[in-house]
Amino acid sequence: MLDRPHPTPAAPSADPFALAKALSGVHFIGGVYVPARSGRTFAVVNPATGAEVARAAEGDAADVEAAVQNAAKAQKDWAKVPARKRGAMVHQCAQLLKEHVDELGRLIALETGKALRTESRVEAGVVADVFEFFGGLGSELKGESVPFDPKVLSVTVREPLGVVGAIIPWNVPMLLMALKVAPALVAGNSVVVKSAEEAPLAVLRICEIMNRILPPGVFNMVSGFGPECGAPLVTHPLVRKVTFTGSVETGKIVARAAAEKLIPVTLELGGKSPMIVFADCDFDRTVAGALTSMRFTRQGQSCTAASRIYVERPIFDRFVAAMTDAVNGMVMGDPLDEKTDIGTIVSEGQLAKVKAYIAEGTATPGATAHVCSAMPTDPALRKGLFIQPVIFTGLTRDSRLVREEIFGPVTVIQPFDDAEAVLAEANDSDYGLAASLWTNNLKVGLDLAHRLEAGLVQINQNLVVQANLSYGGVKSSGLGKEASLEAMLEHFTHKKTIMVNMA
Ligand code: NAI
Ligand code: MG
Repeated sequence: MLDRPHPTPAAPSADPFALAKALSGVHFIGGVYVPARSGRTFAVVNPATGAEVARAAEGDAADVEAAVQNAAKAQKDWAKVPARKRGAMVHQCAQLLKEHVDELGRLIALETGKALRTESRVEAGVVADVFEFFGGLGSELKGESVPFDPKVLSVTVREPLGVVGAIIPWNVPMLLMALKVAPALVAGNSVVVKSAEEAPLAVLRICEIMNRILPPGVFNMVSGFGPECGAPLVTHPLVRKVTFTGSVETGKIVARAAAEKLIPVTLELGGKSPMIVFADCDFDRTVAGALTSMRFTRQGQSCTAASRIYVERPIFDRFVAAMTDAVNGMVMGDPLDEKTDIGTIVSEGQLAKVKAYIAEGTATPGATAHVCSAMPTDPALRKGLFIQPVIFTGLTRDSRLVREEIFGPVTVIQPFDDAEAVLAEANDSDYGLAASLWTNNLKVGLDLAHRLEAGLVQINQNLVVQANLSYGGVKSSGLGKEASLEAMLEHFTHKKTIMVNMA
């Protein structure tokens, strides 16, 4: 334990650089900031400049042990708090988080490179909304009575699972954390979150803010690398549930480890989401929808990004031109600048991966790369991990760019002539997270919506997480749902049957 209170301000901070420094070098365990047992730390870098802005505690099995022990101890009493009271406390956390929306937006912009106005502040607002939503669901943790025999009272009750391990990625760290922590806590579990190595600060700040209201040990957070810090969380015997968002590859590792212990696991593993545009769509609205669907403002670093766009041939050229124009109008720059639409890629490794896909697409015979927007000119940003968005045409279904998740500002637009053929192409994917259809013919739209292999299909819109809409994919996109009442009941409780023989 630190021998002095850690100097983070209680009031919202307008200076993300000072806040990042104040959050340096610590986990949050048992209601207090603690450094890693090993004393090791690693750099947190501002991807817009390449400068180190903080150090993060480099957690390993010893830190995970401390966090899980604290969580297990706290969970016993937390489960005894009436469900509605637990919800009320989580709701109170949401009110406090609302006061910190601007602060959290700036902090996440600093560590991830996501633009403040278009992405980071928005994420912080949705986080507060998610905690508020689940905070209202305490009294929904109810069971049933079973008509067994008039002399036998047979009822089911919802019980928490115990300690939940939550492993989160860097693209929307605060929101993806909230989708796990909020339902887990309201259902009476305690939580240990393992933050993403690229973005540990904003989630740490949220943990500290919420610990002003929650009992100590109910919500803990450790930072560190996957194999050293994430893996021991999954294998810890007292962790009774794991919820994970990230890559398919790591998701399988996590699921295997969970299978060894026979504990339930929820996986959200990304996608290659198709957007299907018919010639009868509302054209301008659809172009605007494509921009948001593709998450260009998040540099395409989104699991639901519309990274495959299929456009009916009569409007194909017009659509590509309109989309290229629109992306050209987006401003790339300092993520903390309110004028910026598009910030940076999160890390050098991720940038190299995206560049390799773009090089492969560009070198493919018949392909055209429409390179959009303009690199920032500010010399302070010359080491920033910026990349121009690219719209590809002339690629086909066998290209890796059409099949694999790029997680960068790259989309492929292909023409189609026939609804059945485009449906077959859309479903010809390992993934099945989301899809959208753009048409004014709802007969065609609904028919395809039923036959698309995806967890979420939208017609004439493409919103992402909405509180109380079940969210989660099929096929390699994952297992289980998040964000809804059903998700809380199914994934963070078990149903116990109790029978009383009164004969
Ligand atoms: P990743 O899946 O390796 O990392 C996600 C989280 O898992 C991080 O907190 C990481 O530390 C942890 N982790 C890594 N190895 C682990 C292990 N053996 N046991 C337990 N936890 C472990 O994702 P990464 O490397 O950051 O990104 C690679 C690709 O994954 C991206 O390019 C993208 O395609 C995809 N991805 C998908 C996301 C989604 O929202 N579904 C989010 C982030 C990445
Ligand atoms: Mg990885």
